[in-house]
Amino acid sequence: MLDTFFFTVLPYVMLSVFFGGTLFRAFRGRWVWSARGDFQWTTRSTGFFGRASIGPAALSLHWGIAILLVSHIVGFIGGAFGFVSWVAFFRWAGLLGGVLFLYGVLWAFLRRLLIRQLRAMSNADDYIALLLLLTIAGFGLYQAALTQIFGVSFPAGAWIASILRLQPNAELMAAVPLLNKLHIIFAQVFFIYFPFSKLVHISSFPFDYATRSFISVRTYWALKK
Ligand code: HEM
Repeated sequence: MLDTFFFTVLPYVMLSVFFGGTLFRAFRGRWVWSARGDFQWTTRSTGFFGRASIGPAALSLHWGIAILLVSHIVGFIGGAFGFVSWVAFFRWAGLLGGVLFLYGVLWAFLRRLLIRQLRAMSNADDYIALLLLLTIAGFGLYQAALTQIFGVSFPAGAWIASILRLQPNAELMAAVPLLNKLHIIFAQVFFIYFPFSKLVHISSFPFDYATRSFISVRTYWALKK
């Protein structure tokens, strides 16, 4: 019953809210090349404060998630079509991306807790996004590094294929370990939350850079000359 909800209904809710919500926020009222979004369409950059820790936080977090995205896709295709070496690639690349990502997210979280100016400018969205990502990565890494269960990509890949074919089959996920089910359920919650958060900045495309007028950025001293 619960499996039916989480692996048959929730995926379609997630896909509709994720794509529908993000497109709505990106182009509301004006259909332009670059997604400009509403007034909340910003990362609320924190780089002005605690400059020593923004490097490890932002670099590790973004490289980590890029590696995780690619390795998940390779793993799921491998799982769906029975390519063993693709699933093995996910195992090791996922571990590398996961450790890098966890390191960056922990830095990002600690920055917000320990740096006074960052504590003052942080809002609930900043913490919710980081906590959801920490939870998802925590489940994934716990499974990969501590319980050392691998090969869940085979049932998960087949299940994702069933969703995309519009013939959802939750039974494919029945024998998947609880840890991995929780990983996937929290990941779906994360993607449902995505359009309502600052994370929409991922959907910005710099097409307008080619045609818009220059923005001159100078140091204070250069301006004084
Ligand atoms: C709906 C989206 C997602 C699905 C369906 C999913 C599914 C999976 C599955 C099935 C595995 C185990 C692979 C195997 O045993 O062969 C896994 C591992 C993992 N996932 Fe995800 N995942 C999702 C999103 C995420 C996100 C957003 C993150 C990042 C925060 C993440 C981080 C990880 C990590 C670190 C591992 C361990 C990598 C390894 O096996 O070495 N996942 N995921």
